[in-house]
Amino acid sequence: MNRFNFEIRPFTIADYDVVLKLWKKSDGVALSAADEREAIALYLDRNPGLSLLATQGESILGTLLCGHDGRRAYLHHLAVEESSRRLGIGRALVMRALGNLSKAGIDKCHVLVLDTNEIGATFWKELGWEPRTGLQLYSQFCRDVAPLDQMI
Ligand SMILES: CC(C)(COP(=O)(O)OP(=O)(O)OC[C@H]1O[C@@H](n2cnc3c(N)ncnc32)[C@H](O)[C@@H]1OP(=O)(O)O)[C@@H](O)C(=O)NCCC(=O)NCCS
Repeated sequence: MNRFNFEIRPFTIADYDVVLKLWKKSDGVALSAADEREAIALYLDRNPGLSLLATQGESILGTLLCGHDGRRAYLHHLAVEESSRRLGIGRALVMRALGNLSKAGIDKCHVLVLDTNEIGATFWKELGWEPRTGLQLYSQFCRDVAPLDQMI
């Protein structure tokens, strides 16, 4: 139990519909095809127990997706119900996730924050996360790349 009365538990796919509603109304959470039910089910299966919810009874107050590739971890979609913000829920979700990652032997964790998300940036800095300079994120859709055997 935390200083405000909430609990933290793993996110299961049964929670998906409620969580999606929270993501949709949360500025700072950018949704894509990777957030469809099947994709989230795959993500949760691949990273068992790492993604978390903050709950109060049956209500979901906060969400955090967390996964790693055996080398680095990544957090996504930290979101807290507007009426429950500034009560330590975001901080508690992140601290629990980092503890779980550390137990799994993962040394470092990243999070992507939209340029426009000033509150998000303030939050991460307050928690001691360092904004990175000298790096740019490059992305590509895997499906757009021809298989190697068709390229040679
Ligand atoms: C960012 C967010 C998850 C923070 O959740 P939260 O539960 O309110 O955060 P916490 O209560 O744990 O705050 C921890 C600290 O972060 C800072 N902080 C959080 N929200 C802040 C705000 N609106 N303004 C200034 N500082 C803020 C404070 O220093 C706070 O500590 P304090 O309340 O003791 O001063 C929440 O505002 C949210 O859901 N925003 C919309 C979605 C989003 O942007 N997610 C981040 C994606 S990268």
